[in-house]
Amino acid sequence: MPENLTAVVTGGAMGIGGATAECLLEQGWTVHTLDRAGKGVPGAVHHVVDVTDADRQVEVATEIGKINALVTAAGVNLRPADGPAQRLDLDAWHRTLDINLTGTMLSVRAFYPHIADAGAIVTLGSVAGIGAMTWADGYTASKGAVVALTRSWAVDYARYGIRVNCVCPGSTETGMMDGVREAFSEESRVELPQQRLATRREVASVIAVLCGTETTYLSGAVIPVDGGATANVAGMPFPRRRVRE
Ligand SMILES: NC(=O)c1ccc[n+]([C@@H]2O[C@H](COP(=O)([O-])OP(=O)(O)OC[C@H]3O[C@@H](n4cnc5c(N)ncnc54)[C@H](O)[C@@H]3O)[C@@H](O)[C@H]2O)c1
Repeated sequence: MPENLTAVVTGGAMGIGGATAECLLEQGWTVHTLDRAGKGVPGAVHHVVDVTDADRQVEVATEIGKINALVTAAGVNLRPADGPAQRLDLDAWHRTLDINLTGTMLSVRAFYPHIADAGAIVTLGSVAGIGAMTWADGYTASKGAVVALTRSWAVDYARYGIRVNCVCPGSTETGMMDGVREAFSEESRVELPQQRLATRREVASVIAVLCGTETTYLSGAVIPVDGGATANVAGMPFPRRRVRE
């Protein structure tokens, strides 16, 4: 592992971003977390930033200076406010797109000039960006756009040696699941190939690999971290989890 690698992780105060910061710190990276919440993970340098604030992101990017990886994990899921399109709460729609899509773009815009050669950007999509998710128009639209933008950025920034990949988690045990856990009762978990949600760490460890210096020819990839959920053909039964004979 080369020395003196620095990463910026937005949404790094908790959840998948927090676990990514922990993973990178364990591997010897210097980590800066950006979050609208006031506390980062121990060992990281924390900056209170709302990712919708373009000027503040540029200010912090200039303060931090050269980095090797940017992870855009800040995001919201206002799904409980969604419903059929005619009932969709327009404020929730705009807020979701502002944070998940425009916020991601503003992070790339602010930090890209400071990313060293052979650096990496890892965006956070979702299985909702590559498949259907019920009554979540704003969230689905924002994540589909992040997937599309990741591919464009991978091509645009390749000439500068910067790799851009998108990690698309399935349902993961974080604060984002608060309020919707009842939908993941034992009964519906069996609809997932592994019959459980992902841990934060299982998603973070994939992000950390993409930040690293080994995956130098991997760019424009959209990687589901969903235990096989999107690989499954709807309606096709799959073997239930069981003790191996
Ligand atoms: N948890 C899941 O099931 C799941 C599944 C697929 C994709 N994702 C995506 O992964 C990313 C991380 O989600 P998570 O599950 O860790 O959620 P989380 O709620 O645990 O963490 C999200 C973090 O983003 C921060 N944040 C939100 N809005 C912000 C803003 N405007 N400015 C700065 N920080 C802001 C929050 O303070 C929080 O620390 C999100 O983009 C989310 O859409 C999560």
